[in-house]
Amino acid sequence: MKDLIDKLEQTSSLSKEEWSVLIRSRTPDTADYLFERAREIRHRFYRKDIYIRGLIEFTNYCKNDCLYCGIRRSNQNVHRYRLSREQILDCCEKGYELGFRTFVLQGGEDGYYTDEVMTDIVQNVRKRFPDCAITLSLGERSRESYQLLFDAGAERYLLRHETYDAEHYGRLHPNSLSAAHRQQCLWNLKDIGYQVGTGFMVGSPFQTPDNLADDMIFLKALNPQMVGIGPFIPHHDTPFAKSPPGTLELTLFMLGLIRLMLPRVLLPATTALGTIAPDGREKGILTGANVVMPNLSPAEVRKDYLLYDNKICTGDEAAECRRCMENRMKRIGYQVVVSRGDSLVDIN
Ligand code: SAM
Ligand code: FES
Repeated sequence: MKDLIDKLEQTSSLSKEEWSVLIRSRTPDTADYLFERAREIRHRFYRKDIYIRGLIEFTNYCKNDCLYCGIRRSNQNVHRYRLSREQILDCCEKGYELGFRTFVLQGGEDGYYTDEVMTDIVQNVRKRFPDCAITLSLGERSRESYQLLFDAGAERYLLRHETYDAEHYGRLHPNSLSAAHRQQCLWNLKDIGYQVGTGFMVGSPFQTPDNLADDMIFLKALNPQMVGIGPFIPHHDTPFAKSPPGTLELTLFMLGLIRLMLPRVLLPATTALGTIAPDGREKGILTGANVVMPNLSPAEVRKDYLLYDNKICTGDEAAECRRCMENRMKRIGYQVVVSRGDSLVDIN
Protein backbone atom coordinates (compact mmCIF):
# COMPACT_ATOMS: atom_id res chain seq x y z
CA MET A 1 0.00 0.00 0.00
CA LYS A 2 2.76 2.43 0.95
CA ASP A 3 4.47 1.64 -2.36
CA LEU A 4 1.34 2.75 -4.19
CA ILE A 5 1.26 6.00 -2.20
CA ASP A 6 4.94 6.61 -3.03
CA LYS A 7 4.22 5.88 -6.68
CA LEU A 8 1.31 8.33 -6.63
CA GLU A 9 3.51 11.04 -5.14
CA GLN A 10 6.28 10.47 -7.66
CA THR A 11 4.23 10.05 -10.83
CA SER A 12 0.93 11.82 -9.95
CA SER A 13 -1.07 9.00 -11.47
CA LEU A 14 -2.17 5.41 -10.96
CA SER A 15 -4.01 2.89 -13.10
CA LYS A 16 -7.67 2.17 -12.43
CA GLU A 17 -6.72 -1.15 -10.87
CA GLU A 18 -4.19 0.53 -8.57
CA TRP A 19 -6.68 3.20 -7.48
CA SER A 20 -9.28 0.54 -6.71
CA VAL A 21 -6.86 -1.55 -4.66
CA LEU A 22 -5.60 1.46 -2.73
CA ILE A 23 -9.12 2.63 -1.89
CA ARG A 24 -10.55 -0.81 -1.18
CA SER A 25 -7.65 -2.10 0.94
CA ARG A 26 -6.84 1.05 2.91
CA THR A 27 -5.92 0.67 6.60
CA PRO A 28 -5.46 3.23 9.40
CA ASP A 29 -1.75 2.76 8.95
CA THR A 30 -1.82 3.57 5.22
CA ALA A 31 -4.06 6.53 5.97
CA ASP A 32 -1.56 7.96 8.48
CA TYR A 33 1.24 7.59 5.96
CA LEU A 34 -0.86 9.25 3.24
CA PHE A 35 -1.88 12.17 5.48
CA GLU A 36 1.70 12.89 6.42
CA ARG A 37 2.71 13.05 2.74
CA ALA A 38 -0.36 15.13 1.82
CA ARG A 39 0.31 17.63 4.62
CA GLU A 40 3.91 18.02 3.57
CA ILE A 41 2.92 18.77 -0.04
CA ARG A 42 0.21 21.18 1.03
CA HIS A 43 2.72 23.11 3.17
CA ARG A 44 5.22 23.19 0.31
CA PHE A 45 2.77 25.00 -2.00
CA TYR A 46 0.41 26.84 0.34
CA ARG A 47 2.34 27.02 3.64
CA LYS A 48 -0.11 27.23 6.54
CA ASP A 49 -2.45 29.61 4.74
CA ILE A 50 -6.17 29.04 4.62
CA TYR A 51 -8.15 30.70 1.83
CA ILE A 52 -11.71 31.67 2.62
CA ARG A 53 -14.61 31.97 0.21
CA GLY A 54 -17.86 33.69 1.11
CA LEU A 55 -20.72 31.43 0.06
CA ILE A 56 -23.94 33.17 -0.94
CA GLU A 57 -26.79 30.69 -1.45
CA PHE A 58 -29.01 32.99 -3.48
CA THR A 59 -31.86 30.68 -4.58
CA ASN A 60 -33.19 27.32 -3.47
CA TYR A 61 -35.56 26.91 -6.42
CA CYS A 62 -34.37 24.06 -8.63
CA LYS A 63 -35.79 22.55 -11.78
CA ASN A 64 -33.83 19.33 -11.25
CA ASP A 65 -34.71 16.36 -9.15
CA CYS A 66 -31.41 14.81 -8.04
CA LEU A 67 -32.43 11.94 -5.80
CA TYR A 68 -30.04 12.92 -2.98
CA CYS A 69 -30.66 16.66 -2.80
CA GLY A 70 -32.89 18.35 -0.22
CA ILE A 71 -33.85 21.23 -2.53
CA ARG A 72 -34.90 18.93 -5.41
CA ARG A 73 -37.97 19.99 -7.34
CA SER A 74 -40.19 17.24 -5.93
CA ASN A 75 -39.61 18.23 -2.32
CA GLN A 76 -42.86 20.04 -1.52
CA ASN A 77 -41.78 20.79 2.05
CA VAL A 78 -39.11 23.34 1.14
CA HIS A 79 -39.85 27.00 1.74
CA ARG A 80 -38.48 28.48 -1.49
CA TYR A 81 -36.68 31.83 -1.67
CA ARG A 82 -34.73 34.02 -4.09
CA LEU A 83 -32.33 36.84 -3.28
CA SER A 84 -32.48 40.04 -5.31
CA ARG A 85 -29.46 41.74 -6.84
CA GLU A 86 -29.43 44.23 -3.95
CA GLN A 87 -29.58 41.48 -1.34
CA ILE A 88 -26.67 39.68 -3.03
CA LEU A 89 -24.66 42.92 -3.14
CA ASP A 90 -25.41 43.48 0.57
CA CYS A 91 -24.03 40.01 1.37
CA CYS A 92 -20.87 40.85 -0.60
CA GLU A 93 -20.55 44.19 1.20
CA LYS A 94 -20.72 42.48 4.56
CA GLY A 95 -18.30 39.84 3.34
CA TYR A 96 -15.82 42.40 2.08
CA GLU A 97 -15.73 44.08 5.49
CA LEU A 98 -15.05 40.67 7.03
CA GLY A 99 -12.02 40.11 4.77
CA PHE A 100 -13.53 37.97 2.00
CA ARG A 101 -12.03 38.53 -1.45
CA THR A 102 -13.89 35.71 -3.20
CA PHE A 103 -17.65 35.44 -3.42
CA VAL A 104 -19.30 32.19 -4.44
CA LEU A 105 -22.80 32.67 -5.82
CA GLN A 106 -24.49 29.30 -5.56
CA GLY A 107 -28.03 28.18 -6.23
CA GLY A 108 -30.35 25.53 -7.57
CA GLU A 109 -31.00 25.54 -11.30
CA ASP A 110 -33.53 28.34 -11.22
CA GLY A 111 -34.95 29.63 -14.52
CA TYR A 112 -35.66 33.01 -12.93
CA TYR A 113 -31.93 33.81 -13.19
CA THR A 114 -31.79 34.08 -16.99
CA ASP A 115 -28.58 35.14 -18.71
CA GLU A 116 -29.85 38.72 -18.62
CA VAL A 117 -30.61 38.70 -14.88
CA MET A 118 -27.43 36.84 -14.00
CA THR A 119 -25.04 38.91 -16.11
CA ASP A 120 -26.50 42.04 -14.53
CA ILE A 121 -25.77 40.62 -11.06
CA VAL A 122 -22.24 39.59 -12.02
CA GLN A 123 -21.49 42.97 -13.65
CA ASN A 124 -22.64 44.79 -10.54
CA VAL A 125 -20.59 42.65 -8.16
CA ARG A 126 -17.60 43.09 -10.48
CA LYS A 127 -18.03 46.89 -10.56
CA ARG A 128 -18.49 47.25 -6.81
CA PHE A 129 -15.69 44.82 -5.80
CA PRO A 130 -12.99 45.06 -8.48
CA ASP A 131 -10.39 43.32 -6.32
CA CYS A 132 -12.55 40.25 -5.63
CA ALA A 133 -12.93 36.98 -7.49
CA ILE A 134 -16.44 35.96 -8.54
CA THR A 135 -17.21 32.26 -8.50
CA LEU A 136 -20.47 30.92 -9.89
CA SER A 137 -22.11 27.61 -9.03
CA LEU A 138 -25.35 27.56 -10.99
CA GLY A 139 -25.32 24.06 -12.40
CA GLU A 140 -25.56 23.12 -16.06
CA ARG A 141 -26.06 25.92 -18.60
CA SER A 142 -25.33 26.31 -22.29
CA ARG A 143 -21.84 27.17 -23.48
CA GLU A 144 -23.16 30.54 -24.67
CA SER A 145 -24.49 31.26 -21.22
CA TYR A 146 -21.17 30.36 -19.56
CA GLN A 147 -19.43 32.65 -22.07
CA LEU A 148 -21.77 35.59 -21.33
CA LEU A 149 -21.22 35.20 -17.59
CA PHE A 150 -17.46 35.01 -18.11
CA ASP A 151 -17.55 38.16 -20.22
CA ALA A 152 -19.59 39.85 -17.49
CA GLY A 153 -16.78 39.28 -15.01
CA ALA A 154 -17.10 35.82 -13.44
CA GLU A 155 -13.78 34.00 -13.51
CA ARG A 156 -14.41 30.80 -11.59
CA TYR A 157 -17.11 28.11 -11.80
CA LEU A 158 -17.90 25.23 -9.48
CA LEU A 159 -19.68 22.22 -10.95
CA ARG A 160 -19.13 18.88 -9.28
CA HIS A 161 -19.17 16.03 -11.77
CA GLU A 162 -20.84 14.05 -8.90
CA THR A 163 -19.70 10.66 -10.26
CA TYR A 164 -17.90 9.83 -13.49
CA ASP A 165 -19.57 6.48 -14.17
CA ALA A 166 -22.66 6.86 -16.38
CA GLU A 167 -24.55 4.00 -14.75
CA HIS A 168 -23.86 5.21 -11.22
CA TYR A 169 -24.82 8.74 -12.31
CA GLY A 170 -28.10 7.33 -13.60
CA ARG A 171 -28.90 5.81 -10.22
CA LEU A 172 -28.48 9.19 -8.49
CA HIS A 173 -30.29 11.36 -11.01
CA PRO A 174 -33.53 11.29 -13.01
CA ASN A 175 -33.32 10.39 -16.72
CA SER A 176 -33.26 14.01 -17.82
CA LEU A 177 -29.69 14.37 -16.53
CA SER A 178 -26.55 12.61 -17.78
CA ALA A 179 -22.95 12.22 -16.69
CA ALA A 180 -21.80 12.95 -20.24
CA HIS A 181 -23.60 16.30 -20.38
CA ARG A 182 -22.30 17.33 -16.95
CA GLN A 183 -18.75 16.50 -18.00
CA GLN A 184 -19.20 18.37 -21.29
CA CYS A 185 -20.18 21.46 -19.29
CA LEU A 186 -16.89 21.20 -17.39
CA TRP A 187 -14.87 20.96 -20.59
CA ASN A 188 -16.77 23.97 -21.98
CA LEU A 189 -16.06 26.00 -18.84
CA LYS A 190 -12.41 25.14 -19.06
CA ASP A 191 -12.24 25.98 -22.72
CA ILE A 192 -13.78 29.41 -22.10
CA GLY A 193 -11.03 30.15 -19.59
CA TYR A 194 -12.74 29.76 -16.22
CA GLN A 195 -10.83 28.49 -13.21
CA VAL A 196 -12.87 25.33 -12.77
CA GLY A 197 -13.85 23.43 -9.66
CA THR A 198 -15.34 19.96 -9.78
CA GLY A 199 -15.78 17.08 -7.34
CA PHE A 200 -18.05 14.39 -5.98
CA MET A 201 -19.82 13.09 -2.93
CA VAL A 202 -18.06 10.39 -0.95
CA GLY A 203 -20.26 7.46 0.05
CA SER A 204 -23.18 8.35 -2.21
CA PRO A 205 -25.69 5.50 -2.57
CA PHE A 206 -24.40 2.56 -4.70
CA GLN A 207 -20.87 4.03 -4.92
CA THR A 208 -18.07 1.44 -5.24
CA PRO A 209 -14.25 1.76 -4.99
CA ASP A 210 -14.23 1.32 -8.78
CA ASN A 211 -16.46 4.40 -9.13
CA LEU A 212 -14.04 6.39 -6.97
CA ALA A 213 -11.15 5.11 -9.09
CA ASP A 214 -12.92 6.47 -12.18
CA ASP A 215 -13.47 9.79 -10.37
CA MET A 216 -9.74 10.08 -9.68
CA ILE A 217 -8.87 9.34 -13.31
CA PHE A 218 -11.37 11.94 -14.48
CA LEU A 219 -9.91 14.54 -12.10
CA LYS A 220 -6.46 13.84 -13.45
CA ALA A 221 -7.65 14.33 -17.04
CA LEU A 222 -9.60 17.51 -16.32
CA ASN A 223 -6.85 19.00 -14.13
CA PRO A 224 -9.22 21.45 -12.41
CA GLN A 225 -8.13 24.41 -10.27
CA MET A 226 -10.35 23.23 -7.41
CA VAL A 227 -11.81 19.94 -6.20
CA GLY A 228 -14.72 19.97 -3.76
CA ILE A 229 -15.53 16.65 -2.13
CA GLY A 230 -17.68 15.96 0.89
CA PRO A 231 -19.57 13.05 2.38
CA PHE A 232 -23.06 12.25 1.13
CA ILE A 233 -25.50 13.01 3.96
CA PRO A 234 -29.15 11.90 3.71
CA HIS A 235 -31.97 14.41 3.69
CA HIS A 236 -35.19 13.22 5.32
CA ASP A 237 -37.46 14.34 2.43
CA THR A 238 -35.60 12.58 -0.40
CA PRO A 239 -35.68 9.02 -1.81
CA PHE A 240 -32.31 8.41 -0.10
CA ALA A 241 -33.56 9.40 3.35
CA LYS A 242 -32.68 5.99 4.77
CA SER A 243 -29.32 5.55 3.00
CA PRO A 244 -26.23 5.56 5.22
CA PRO A 245 -24.06 8.69 5.09
CA GLY A 246 -20.51 8.73 3.70
CA THR A 247 -17.87 8.37 6.39
CA LEU A 248 -15.36 10.86 7.74
CA GLU A 249 -12.68 8.22 7.36
CA LEU A 250 -13.16 7.64 3.62
CA THR A 251 -13.64 11.36 2.89
CA LEU A 252 -10.33 12.18 4.58
CA PHE A 253 -8.60 9.37 2.70
CA MET A 254 -9.90 10.71 -0.63
CA LEU A 255 -8.80 14.26 0.31
CA GLY A 256 -5.29 12.98 0.96
CA LEU A 257 -5.21 11.12 -2.38
CA ILE A 258 -6.37 14.21 -4.27
CA ARG A 259 -3.67 16.35 -2.65
CA LEU A 260 -1.03 13.84 -3.71
CA MET A 261 -2.33 13.55 -7.27
CA LEU A 262 -2.92 17.31 -7.82
CA PRO A 263 -0.39 18.98 -5.51
CA ARG A 264 -1.34 22.58 -6.37
CA VAL A 265 -5.10 22.19 -6.41
CA LEU A 266 -7.42 24.22 -4.17
CA LEU A 267 -9.08 21.76 -1.85
CA PRO A 268 -11.89 22.84 0.47
CA ALA A 269 -12.69 21.27 3.81
CA THR A 270 -16.43 21.33 3.12
CA THR A 271 -19.46 22.16 5.25
CA ALA A 272 -20.65 18.56 4.82
CA LEU A 273 -17.37 17.37 6.36
CA GLY A 274 -18.02 19.71 9.30
CA THR A 275 -21.54 18.30 9.55
CA ILE A 276 -20.63 14.62 9.93
CA ALA A 277 -18.01 15.39 12.63
CA PRO A 278 -17.62 18.43 14.89
CA ASP A 279 -13.93 18.68 13.98
CA GLY A 280 -14.36 17.41 10.40
CA ARG A 281 -13.11 20.59 8.74
CA GLU A 282 -10.03 20.75 10.97
CA LYS A 283 -9.27 17.12 10.14
CA GLY A 284 -9.73 17.96 6.44
CA ILE A 285 -7.15 20.74 6.72
CA LEU A 286 -4.76 18.37 8.44
CA THR A 287 -5.07 15.90 5.54
CA GLY A 288 -4.23 18.42 2.82
CA ALA A 289 -7.21 20.78 2.38
CA ASN A 290 -6.49 24.52 2.16
CA VAL A 291 -9.84 26.27 1.64
CA VAL A 292 -12.93 26.84 3.80
CA MET A 293 -16.21 28.34 2.65
CA PRO A 294 -18.03 30.12 5.49
CA ASN A 295 -21.60 31.09 4.78
CA LEU A 296 -22.48 34.70 3.86
CA SER A 297 -26.14 34.05 3.09
CA PRO A 298 -28.61 36.14 5.12
CA ALA A 299 -29.33 34.31 8.38
CA GLU A 300 -33.08 34.20 7.66
CA VAL A 301 -32.73 32.03 4.52
CA ARG A 302 -30.01 29.64 5.68
CA LYS A 303 -32.27 26.98 7.10
CA ASP A 304 -34.07 26.86 3.74
CA TYR A 305 -30.93 25.93 1.80
CA LEU A 306 -30.92 22.49 3.34
CA LEU A 307 -29.22 20.07 0.94
CA TYR A 308 -28.93 17.45 3.71
CA ASP A 309 -29.99 17.03 7.33
CA ASN A 310 -28.28 18.71 10.29
CA LYS A 311 -26.29 21.15 8.13
CA ILE A 312 -24.10 23.27 10.38
CA CYS A 313 -24.05 27.08 10.68
CA THR A 314 -27.71 27.50 9.66
CA GLY A 315 -28.42 29.66 12.70
CA ASP A 316 -25.35 31.91 12.57
CA GLU A 317 -24.65 35.39 11.25
CA ALA A 318 -21.85 35.89 8.70
CA ALA A 319 -19.57 37.58 11.22
CA GLU A 320 -19.97 34.71 13.69
CA CYS A 321 -19.07 32.13 11.01
CA ARG A 322 -16.03 34.14 10.00
CA ARG A 323 -14.78 34.50 13.58
CA CYS A 324 -15.50 30.87 14.37
CA MET A 325 -13.51 29.74 11.34
CA GLU A 326 -10.55 31.94 12.19
CA ASN A 327 -10.42 30.50 15.72
CA ARG A 328 -10.82 26.92 14.56
CA MET A 329 -7.92 27.32 12.13
CA LYS A 330 -5.73 29.08 14.69
CA ARG A 331 -6.23 26.25 17.15
CA ILE A 332 -4.67 23.79 14.68
CA GLY A 333 -1.82 26.14 13.72
CA TYR A 334 -3.14 27.63 10.45
CA GLN A 335 -4.05 31.20 9.49
CA VAL A 336 -6.92 32.59 7.46
CA VAL A 337 -5.55 35.07 4.90
CA VAL A 338 -7.23 38.07 3.27
CA SER A 339 -6.65 37.19 -0.37
CA ARG A 340 -8.43 36.19 -3.58
CA GLY A 341 -6.63 32.89 -3.11
CA ASP A 342 -6.08 32.04 -6.75
CA SER A 343 -5.07 28.51 -7.68
CA LEU A 344 -1.50 27.71 -8.58
CA VAL A 345 -2.79 25.39 -11.33
CA ASP A 346 -2.37 27.01 -14.77
CA ILE A 347 -5.52 27.65 -16.75
CA ASN A 348 -5.76 25.29 -19.75
N1 SAM B 1 -27.17 23.57 -8.66
C1 SAM B 1 -25.75 23.68 -8.59
C2 SAM B 1 -25.10 22.39 -9.08
O1 SAM B 1 -25.82 21.48 -9.45
O2 SAM B 1 -23.88 22.37 -9.15
C3 SAM B 1 -25.22 24.05 -7.21
C4 SAM B 1 -26.02 23.62 -6.04
S1 SAM B 1 -25.90 21.88 -5.66
C5 SAM B 1 -27.12 21.76 -4.42
C6 SAM B 1 -24.34 21.82 -4.80
C7 SAM B 1 -23.79 20.47 -4.41
O3 SAM B 1 -24.44 19.99 -3.24
C8 SAM B 1 -23.97 19.34 -5.40
O4 SAM B 1 -22.96 19.38 -6.36
C9 SAM B 1 -23.92 18.08 -4.52
O5 SAM B 1 -22.68 17.40 -4.64
C10 SAM B 1 -24.10 18.64 -3.10
N2 SAM B 1 -25.19 17.93 -2.39
C11 SAM B 1 -26.48 17.88 -2.72
N3 SAM B 1 -27.16 17.06 -1.90
C12 SAM B 1 -26.26 16.56 -1.02
C13 SAM B 1 -26.35 15.63 0.06
N4 SAM B 1 -27.49 15.04 0.38
N5 SAM B 1 -25.21 15.34 0.75
C14 SAM B 1 -24.04 15.93 0.41
N6 SAM B 1 -23.90 16.81 -0.61
C15 SAM B 1 -24.99 17.11 -1.32
FE1 FES C 1 -31.00 20.94 -7.93
FE2 FES C 1 -29.87 18.61 -8.23
S1 FES C 1 -31.79 19.05 -7.26
S2 FES C 1 -29.24 20.47 -9.09
